Amino acid sequence: MIRLRMLPPVLLGLALGAGSTATGASAQQLDLDEVFRCSGETVSQDNCLAARQVLLNDCTTCHTFVPIVMQSFDENGWRGLLTRHVENGRVTQVPPEQIENLRLYLAENFNGDLPPPDLPPALLETWTSY
Ligand code: HEC
Repeated sequence: MIRLRMLPPVLLGLALGAGSTATGASAQQLDLDEVFRCSGETVSQDNCLAARQVLLNDCTTCHTFVPIVMQSFDENGWRGLLTRHVENGRVTQVPPEQIENLRLYLAENFNGDLPPPDLPPALLETWTSY
């Protein structure tokens, strides 16, 4: 839990990175609990937090987290995306059970039934950073 407190600057650094203007980062607070919500009944709070950790540690080196939370896939869609990422050798350090936990988490929270999280425009611009 302590680590989470360190995350927002890391995230903003990653997301806003080089070239961002002074308009955003310091004024905007990103509520991680709102972005990485835990909205359902299937995935426990602990598993939500575990999925969030994987997302932030292993899924934001090539692109920001924005395409992940703005995408809406069902369980199969997320399976396809994650399988493609693993088989392409993009994601190699995450054990299969963590990938499965992430898939369930994403399918429950980012599936088209819920509106996507409200992100500041500067972050949205990073959607297609890949
Ligand atoms: C080694 C680089 C790399 C890593 C690490 C990575 N990705 Fe990606 N990701 C890409 C690239 C390149 C694309 C664009 C091409 C594509 O869709 O496959 C992409 C696209 C995406 C998209 C958008 C797909 C769409 O159809 O719009 C999502 C969602 C996504 N990644 C999720 C993840 C998740 C979840 C993880 C962590 C498990 C992750 N990525 C880790 C390289 C990476």
